Amino acid sequence: MNSCTLKIISLFIIAVSAAPNVFLEDEASPILNITTCGGYFEASSATINFQVGGSIRADMRCVWVIQPSNVYNQFTLTSSGLGGNDGIYVATYLYGNISSQRKIVGHAPTMGFSLSFSSSGESGRQVLTGYAGLTTASGNYSYPENGERYGNNEDALFLIAPTVPAQPTLRFTYVDIEFGSGCLYDQLAVFTWFDNEYKQTARFCGDTIPTSVTLVGGAGLVTFSSDRYNAYSGFKSVVGQNYTISAPLVIITFSAGHSPTKGFSLSFSSSGLPVQKFLTGYADLTTKSGNYSYPVKGNSYANNENAMFFVAPAVPGCPTLRFTFVDVEPHSYCGFDYVRIFTWLGNQYKQAATFCGDRIPPNITFIEGAGLVMFHSSDRLVKSGFKFEWV
Ligand SMILES: *[C@@H]1O[C@H](CO)[C@@H](O)[C@H](O)[C@H]1NC(C)=O
Ligand SMILES: *[C@@H]1O[C@H](CO)[C@@H](O)[C@H](O)[C@H]1NC(C)=O
Ligand SMILES: *[C@@H]1O[C@H](CO)[C@@H](O)[C@H](O)[C@H]1NC(C)=O
Ligand SMILES: *[C@@H]1O[C@H](CO)[C@@H](O)[C@H](O)[C@H]1NC(C)=O
Ligand SMILES: *[C@@H]1O[C@H](CO)[C@@H](O)[C@H](O)[C@H]1NC(C)=O
Ligand SMILES: *[C@@H]1O[C@H](CO)[C@@H](O)[C@H](O)[C@H]1NC(C)=O
Repeated sequence: MNSCTLKIISLFIIAVSAAPNVFLEDEASPILNITTCGGYFEASSATINFQVGGSIRADMRCVWVIQPSNVYNQFTLTSSGLGGNDGIYVATYLYGNISSQRKIVGHAPTMGFSLSFSSSGESGRQVLTGYAGLTTASGNYSYPENGERYGNNEDALFLIAPTVPAQPTLRFTYVDIEFGSGCLYDQLAVFTWFDNEYKQTARFCGDTIPTSVTLVGGAGLVTFSSDRYNAYSGFKSVVGQNYTISAPLVIITFSAGHSPTKGFSLSFSSSGLPVQKFLTGYADLTTKSGNYSYPVKGNSYANNENAMFFVAPAVPGCPTLRFTFVDVEPHSYCGFDYVRIFTWLGNQYKQAATFCGDRIPPNITFIEGAGLVMFHSSDRLVKSGFKFEWV
């Protein structure tokens, strides 16, 4: 809910043109020049030039859906004014699943993380003296110290134990390590000294900044370990580096941090085997509230549909999605036709609900301001579709 408040506060910074809802069929121009905030595009190569040289307000979000002509798609960030809290996320989409969410960062090619700590409050216990560690009352520390990538098979340990007794607060300011489900690959862990032992109080990975930890016992330990695989294979790319993704449909989401930032250019080109046009319906719903029906004309939907509707109001807010009508082929586990909702949460699309038949699903609030409704139909029955509103 915090982020919602921030978004509303930062509203005044710049006005943004709403994304057009267009299917571009023009394959003649070799490089499509995309300058809008979001939209659906079919292209074999394109450059998203978004506010290049200009500024982007805080908490801005845009979603581009690219139907590439071929299976291999190379992405290159060719210019960037983005900061460390901004991100361009590239995901693939296949039959109702959004997978391989990957972040392209725009800032300098430093990898790793940085943390700062400062002390205040009651005096605590002085422990772990004699170890090499962070013993000043406050300070900043970055790992790796040389600003380069960390290595594989790392197992690093950072002790925070101010020699002046204090209760330091540990705050991570930057985290950029390989993300894995359950942080099984690379991970950072924080242990606080409490009751004469180190207790694990946090374990994390990816680029999520964890909440601050106060080391009430006066000392703490940060451990970092990486697995034997290249920490960044396919996950990070900076200006000028190439990144290849193979998919029938690519979703690019830009999400600005809580402060204004500068624009960027992202190019892509397709090669390899041709792919078939995947989406049968698309809408970019960027008004503050509204109604949407699918099929739009009120007939029944067709067999073998794959449709996608983004709800991402251009005016920052937390829209609630409410279905008012559902008539989709019923099945005990929605194995044929289904509507699926994803919410944008923690820089990923998370599946929030799947339904079919005529049951109205619960309301869903997109607390980070955006979400996705997708629809799939099989080659069996067809029904009259669904209606929803967002407010
Ligand atoms: C793309 O379009 C924008 C706006 O029309 C224009 O300023 C820019 O020069 C174009 N870029 C290229 C590479 O054509
Ligand atoms: C989608 O993902 C689910 C779970 O992650 C998996 O079980 C299912 O097979 C996937 N479907 C397709 C068509 O890939
Ligand atoms: C950490 O570095 C930042 C930027 O250089 C500085 O503003 C901040 O005061 C430092 N924090 C501590 C605890 O020294
Ligand atoms: C990216 O690919 C282009 C051609 O597709 C090549 O010219 C360029 O050197 C590549 N960049 C890197 C960093 O590999
Ligand atoms: C959706 O349509 C219904 C009926 O026309 C109307 O009452 C409702 O206010 C609309 N909702 C929004 C968010 O526009
Ligand atoms: C869903 O939201 C609407 C208003 O937008 C409200 O009238 C309705 O009671 C809500 N439904 C549920 C199940 O919470």
